[in-house]
Formats: sequence, structure tokens, C-alpha cells
Amino acid sequence: MIAHRGASAYAPENTLAAFELAVAQGADMLELDVHLTADDQPVIIHDDTLGRTTTGRGRVRDHSLQALKRLDAGAWRGGNFRGQRLQSLPEVLERFRDRIGFAVELKAGSARYPGIEERVVSLLEVYGVVGRALVLAFDHAALPAVRALNPELGRVALVDSVPRPSILRGPRVRAAREAGLDVYVWTVNDPTLMDRLIGWEVTGIITDAPDVLRARPALA
Ligand code: G3P
Ligand code: CA
Repeated sequence: MIAHRGASAYAPENTLAAFELAVAQGADMLELDVHLTADDQPVIIHDDTLGRTTTGRGRVRDHSLQALKRLDAGAWRGGNFRGQRLQSLPEVLERFRDRIGFAVELKAGSARYPGIEERVVSLLEVYGVVGRALVLAFDHAALPAVRALNPELGRVALVDSVPRPSILRGPRVRAAREAGLDVYVWTVNDPTLMDRLIGWEVTGIITDAPDVLRARPALA
């Protein structure tokens, strides 16, 4: 049960509010998105620009972490969330390390963010969460770099289009698992689809609504 950007169905994505709610709802892992700031700090935000989810403008990469910390990252989801701040990766690891696992998505690898793999892997090691962490990326070139740095870390190659729609079917999921691969699916918020995927024995479901997933009878 992986909380997509935290419990983002109910709270502003990638904020402490969404992460705390995911823990309260019984998620196993927080999924979070990492970019590098102008001063090469790993910061948690989905988009590479600030406009959709913060009071800032422009690109994440063009701002220091200190400048990003002045922005409001919750007001866009309503007044109750005003005052939520962007979080650095070490801040979130420090706060949640004893309570939940982490699915850390590198929004780009070293081609765009030089050294991001080393930075993230070293933080996961320092905070002692390697055994409860996955590193995800659409930029598949980042994954061998992660493996070279720490082969114990789970690595997830994200794929958002597939050659044939039939690729995600029970027998294929089972074949992948029998071949030693794990299969995670995102973003699943519909309970009926959750039930089907649980029946296919996917490794994990990434959802905006951990409470809905936690309530599925097969997981009781
Ligand atoms: O972790 C999978 C999923 O989060 C990737 O897509 O755009 O939600 O980061 P996106
Ligand atoms: Ca993500």
C-alpha cells in the first residue's frame, strides 16, 4: 500500500499533511517526487515548475532550498492547508523513518540533475531505510547507477505507456512475478480495480487514497 504523493486524495500532494495522513491511514510506503534545487538539494515536489502546487513561479531548479521554503505548498488545496511548506528529502526521512517506508521517485537522473542518484542513495543509507525503500524513475538510465551505489535498494522502472493494453493482465503479472520481478501499479483509486489487482497478486498498489485500499476485504 503505497500512498501516491502521500494521501493526496485528501491533502496537498507531497506535503507533511499528506504524508501524516498516509501514515494514519495505514499505508506501507510514502511515494514522493524528488527534484534538485539550484543549490543541489533534493526537494519534494512533483512538477518541475512551482505554479500548480505552490505560491511560487518558475522552475524548481532555479530556486535555492531556502527560497523554496518561503513558499506556501498547501493553500492551493484550501485554507485548512495554508502554511504547508515544501520539504527536503532529509526532512521527510528524518520525520518518518521509524514509521513507514519510502518510494522515492527521481523525476530525472544525472543527465538533468548531476549526482542525484548518489545524493538520494546516500540519504537513504544515512537514515537507515534502505530495507524499506524503493527508487523509482521514468529515466531508466538512473537505475543502474542506483544499483551500482547500493544493490540492496529496490529499483522500479516506471512505464506510462505499454505496447499493448493487454500487458497488464493477471497471467502476465503472475509470469513477471514468477520471473523474479515485482509489479507495482499506479494510480489506482477505484476499489473494484484494487480488488482485481490484489487478485492478480501485484506486489504493490500506488494510490491517492490509502484508506480505500486498506479497507479492501482481501487485505483485512
Ligand atoms: O510512482 C509512480 C507515479 O508516481 C509516477 O507518475 O506523474 O504521478 O509522478 P507521477
Ligand atoms: Ca511520482
